[in-house]
Amino acid sequence: MYRIAPSILSANFAKLGEEITQVIAAGADWIHFDVMDNHYVPNLTIGPLVCEAIRPLTQATIDVHLMVKPVDRIIPDFAKAGANVITFHPEGSEHIDRSLGLIRDSGCQAGLVFNPATPLHYMDHVMDKLDVVLLMSVNPGFGGQKFIPETLNKLRAARQKIDAHAAKTGRRILLEIDGGVKVDNIAEIARAGADTFVAGSAVFGAGRDADPNRYDSVIAALRAELGKVGA
Ligand code: DX5
Ligand code: ZN
Repeated sequence: MYRIAPSILSANFAKLGEEITQVIAAGADWIHFDVMDNHYVPNLTIGPLVCEAIRPLTQATIDVHLMVKPVDRIIPDFAKAGANVITFHPEGSEHIDRSLGLIRDSGCQAGLVFNPATPLHYMDHVMDKLDVVLLMSVNPGFGGQKFIPETLNKLRAARQKIDAHAAKTGRRILLEIDGGVKVDNIAEIARAGADTFVAGSAVFGAGRDADPNRYDSVIAALRAELGKVGA
């Protein structure tokens, strides 16, 4: 019912393969893969080569979050590199419907990402092409920022749209949240409607280099909090 997606942005890049293997062994569902271009966002990270390198390490979904502009040129490269989900920001594409189609045609699941101030109406006329809606609860570009509380209202609004679509079509769109998700707020975020949780610093910051099972306890704590939702 709930997916936990550690963001490798906060991993130790000198040991990226080990980090991924350990976080999956600790019970992570997805690997969240943040792509930044120093143009759409003021930071620079990783590209398709790194996606291709980690692909053999896990069967888990690789969730590619494109913080780049433009997006179309790079989409097929990530599909070839083994991405399962590709999401992008509406501001990064001149033709949102076309970019979503490009992701689907490349064999991946497609999603739109909404910055804190980006209105949800961008999803209204492309619901049939969406597999994931990702709400940013921080401004994109960096890990370790604080959750913006207004996102809880936005989550409720997005949940309504997604549920209405499901009632009409029977098709379920995932509602993902990204930024400042921690053990102490994940339950509240789930109650507002999220079902998929990116967590970077909360997971990879936990007891770094302490012991080989260091991610077990934080992922178990996140799940325990999720277990209280609806109880
Ligand atoms: C921010 C990225 C996030 C980031 C989240 O631009 O999209 O995925 O890694 O990091 P935390 O969980 O530390 O806020
Ligand atoms: Zn992200």
